[in-house]
Amino acid sequence: MSKFLVTGGAGYIGSHTVVELLKSNHQVVVLDNLANGYESCLRRIAQITGKKPEFVLGDVRDAEKVARILRDKRIDSVIHFAGLKAVSESVNKPLEYYDVNVHGTLALCKAMKKARVKRLIFSSSATIYGVEAPVPYLESMPRGKTSNPYGESKAVVERFLTDLSHSDPDWSVSLLRYFNPIGAHPSGFIGEAPKGIPNNLLPFITQVAIGQREVLSVFGNDYKTEDGTCERDYLHVMDLAEGHRLIAEQCGPKPGVHIYNLGTGKPVSVLKMIEHFEKVNKVSVPFRIEDRRDGDLDAFWADVSKIEHELNWHAERGLDDMLKDAWRWQLQNPDGYSC
Ligand code: NAD
Ligand code: UD1
Repeated sequence: MSKFLVTGGAGYIGSHTVVELLKSNHQVVVLDNLANGYESCLRRIAQITGKKPEFVLGDVRDAEKVARILRDKRIDSVIHFAGLKAVSESVNKPLEYYDVNVHGTLALCKAMKKARVKRLIFSSSATIYGVEAPVPYLESMPRGKTSNPYGESKAVVERFLTDLSHSDPDWSVSLLRYFNPIGAHPSGFIGEAPKGIPNNLLPFITQVAIGQREVLSVFGNDYKTEDGTCERDYLHVMDLAEGHRLIAEQCGPKPGVHIYNLGTGKPVSVLKMIEHFEKVNKVSVPFRIEDRRDGDLDAFWADVSKIEHELNWHAERGLDDMLKDAWRWQLQNPDGYSC
């Protein structure tokens, strides 16, 4: 049993991972500044697990405070989700993105060093493979040319965490490259609750389906794919959460850098997502084809053989589960955490 500090644990992926850690009898302290998270989410976690994680309201860039938490709460491992994640916003606010994502992770590492906590799992992204990488993406490929400050911030952090691990062989650093997490906990108690207009496909689909938004814009149908719309590797957020728990347990005690893709290895187009969502949930999703969105790639998906062979992890939930669970969350919580 470990005691984890989960930064960003009141957000989407963090909250699902906290559920999985508590279910496996680990102890959890959540640090979140609620920039995009919800304190009520922690009560929902308690409803699911019967255990309320400890919560500290604070900023990951506050190294003194983080060091105090690590020492006082006797933390042995950190899972670092806290960050900003909207690609288009990052183009308009690069300094904010580098500050939270890069400086935030630097501050966290300094605090960890001070408190002698040397096990870290970092939320990276498939975006670090860059705009020219061949598909499917393999962990052995180099980090490529990213097209926006968000992607660059993830690549920079991957680099300095690797340097940190080389400088002190006691560190265990896991760099987890997520593909496209969607869905929600099957209870419908926690899920993705974007503040404002959603950037990502699934929250937009569910908000159109429930009537909060009129129509979904499909960004381009002239890509080099079977039906012309972009293809992505969508994975269930609970599979992702289980992946974190497994990696924490198996890689945490092993010094070095551990790099894994977390996806299903199966690309699905935007039109297929809409069609499948309508079919499994028996609800209609009006859409219209619009111009391409800047920065979108035709298709990318994960090669998942490394994590399958080394850790025996593979995504267990299919598209039906992802889309049904996302819809249940939306129906039960039309206004997200504010209802
Ligand atoms: P999210 O916005 O739901 O969660 C991030 C959490 O971090 C929020 O609760 C927010 O309040 C908190 N936070 C932000 N800045 C903070 C700060 N300075 N100090 C303390 N807390 C802070 O996002 P998510 O989808 O759960 O993503 C989690 C991580 O995974 C992020 O680092 C993101 O970049 C990465 N990621 C997400 C996706 C995705 O599709 N959701 C894909 C690849 C990588
Ligand atoms: C995006 C980011 C990625 C980030 C991830 C999680 C870009 C280029 N990439 O991934 O770096 O890690 O979010 O935050 O922004 N789509 C529509 N209509 C919509 C929304 C999306 O057609 O209203 C399409 C997009 O064009 C894309 C697909 O749906 O083809 C998936 O989009 P999205 O959910 O935003 O994920 P990514 O773009 O893959």
